[in-house]
Amino acid sequence: MTSKPPVSVELVGVGGYLPERIVSNDALAGLVDTSDAWIRERTGITQRHLAAPHETAAFMGTEAARRALHAAGIEAADVDAVILATSTPDQAFPATALRVQAALGARRGFGFDVSAACSGFIFALATAEAFMRCGRARTVLVIGSEVFSRILDWSDRGTCVLFGDGAGAVVLRAGEAGSGRGILSSHLHGDGTSGDLLYVDGAVGLRDASGYLRMNGREVFRHAVAKLSASVDEALAANGLGHADIDWLVPHQANKRIIDAIGRKLDLPAERVVVTVDRHANTSAASIPLALAEAVGDGRIRRGDLVLMEALGGGLTWGSALVRL
Ligand code: UT7
Repeated sequence: MTSKPPVSVELVGVGGYLPERIVSNDALAGLVDTSDAWIRERTGITQRHLAAPHETAAFMGTEAARRALHAAGIEAADVDAVILATSTPDQAFPATALRVQAALGARRGFGFDVSAACSGFIFALATAEAFMRCGRARTVLVIGSEVFSRILDWSDRGTCVLFGDGAGAVVLRAGEAGSGRGILSSHLHGDGTSGDLLYVDGAVGLRDASGYLRMNGREVFRHAVAKLSASVDEALAANGLGHADIDWLVPHQANKRIIDAIGRKLDLPAERVVVTVDRHANTSAASIPLALAEAVGDGRIRRGDLVLMEALGGGLTWGSALVRL
């Protein structure tokens, strides 16, 4: 038996933050044995933003959150919870979410971090949705903030050319049940047996480990296309929708070839797929809210549009969220 959720979980504001420093492919070709042509052809990436020392996950997450709150017309004092997805926190604890909460001046409620690598934003969004559906919070900031430049092995050409830094945030607010707006569904998946395909080889719990990102790119690519295709089908089936109902695909931005494959699967024209990987590279948990912030900000995505988000990352983790803006 299914029961009607007591509230709708509406997305009422979005904001992004990118570090000032932009680094071209050519600049990386001076560091490792690579070329602008290889990076463009295999990934679609032309440049990435890299953080200065003060641009930490907490700093960038706070800036993105401020912009999302401003767009929503909501005060920090009204935020019930901050849920922040990151694999590159400022500290093991306190949670980066709490650093953001303090910087914003949000004095009530709770906050915590979510660790789901590049799927982190979808996991944080679904977590917020669950809290809101059961009435534990009415206004929630969901943030993805990452400084992958600090965990890259800058001598490994197979990974260091792929990532960038940044943060994105959305404000969720409980609305009236049956409003037709907000999160229509979210689906989360994890397979720990594939953990060694994409991982960081250490953290503060392992003092003698280096803490660099390691990836079997070819295998992750294969999983990404298969699992994201299945995720898209899962989201549509759960809502009784077809391809033609989707207005926008806002995918995790890892590789233009993966994005194109999912866009083709949905029969979406290229202009209905939001792409930022060319300029942002892969910003992990920040990539979806950054892409959403760009497309809402420039007027492409409007109120009432149906937006499908999907991501796959280390874990492996993957999932989707379908949202009516
Ligand atoms: O966000 C989390 C999820 N992550 C992803 O979804 C990433 C998924 N994987 C990918 O996007 C792609 O697999 C990569 C972009 C990482 C690699 O592209 P690929 O087409 O799968 O290349 P490959 O790994 O099969 O490597 C092809 C060749 C290799 O040389 P050989 O063995 O054929 O001689 C690599 O050594 O390209 C070489 N190569 C490079 N050459 C120049 C690898 N990296 C580079 C590089 N520059 N940066």
